[in-house]
Amino acid sequence: MPVYCITGTNRGIGLEFVRQLAQSAEKYTILALTRSLSSDLGELKAAASTTTHILECDTSNLQSIHTFTKGATKILGNQKIDFLLNSAAVNAASWQNSLTLGPDDLIDQIKTNVLGPAKMVEFLLGTDLLSPNVRILNMTSGLASLQISSGMSPRKSTGYSISKAALNMLSVHQADDLKGKLPGCVVIVMDPGWVKTRMGGSGATVEPHETVKSMLGILLKLKEDDNGSFFHYTGEKIPW
Ligand SMILES: NC(=O)c1ccc[n+]([C@@H]2O[C@H](COP(=O)([O-])OP(=O)(O)OC[C@H]3O[C@@H](n4cnc5c(N)ncnc54)[C@H](OP(=O)(O)O)[C@@H]3O)[C@@H](O)[C@H]2O)c1
Repeated sequence: MPVYCITGTNRGIGLEFVRQLAQSAEKYTILALTRSLSSDLGELKAAASTTTHILECDTSNLQSIHTFTKGATKILGNQKIDFLLNSAAVNAASWQNSLTLGPDDLIDQIKTNVLGPAKMVEFLLGTDLLSPNVRILNMTSGLASLQISSGMSPRKSTGYSISKAALNMLSVHQADDLKGKLPGCVVIVMDPGWVKTRMGGSGATVEPHETVKSMLGILLKLKEDDNGSFFHYTGEKIPW
């Protein structure tokens, strides 16, 4: 049974990934990660299948990621993770621009949006939990594209955009660095579009079910040549 591991699943796009995978005619083992088991997990529990494991993982906290990987080893036994979806992220202080960046806000975003996906991969690799053909999706944003951002007005979410541009660079490095260790792996970044979640807000144009359905389809069709690519959820490539 293929194994999906998804971060930030108590709401938003992460929750929708769990919902669609759990309802699929195919059976999957799903590691549904959430920042805290003490938060409201009603929607996640309702979406889960009998092969869904809800596990705590605060992706801004290295000890939490480490503890999760140790627990995952026990749950998975000989199974390996086939799909790692790093979806958890924060967009703190979206009103700040390049002239008003709050140091703590920027650091929080770097911790969750960049260091989190870096350490997820590092620790899962270190515990031998990644399949040799693993597909890793680091969820980015169109705001991470230097080319798109250079023509954007008005500007906002500067700290978030910086963190997602850094995530893009991390992903290009992961794509190369993992190749020597997991020969069939493919690492991509994906922009899910402007999605109706708490982060996207009610003015957003894309429904969570629409983007998640498309992204799951793209993941299944990835080829080794796609390693290190930047995709839009529609399947088009995005300029860096
Ligand atoms: N929505 C959009 O329009 C849009 C556009 C471009 C890119 N994206 C990207 O898509 C991904 C999902 O976004 P979304 O729209 O679903 O956002 P969302 O509705 O705000 O949900 C964010 C999820 O990430 C979790 N999270 C945040 N910090 C975490 C941490 N330290 N540890 C573990 N989980 C954490 C949240 O958990 P808590 O409930 O515990 O905070 C929540 O489950 C993100 O990477 C985002 O940057 C979204």
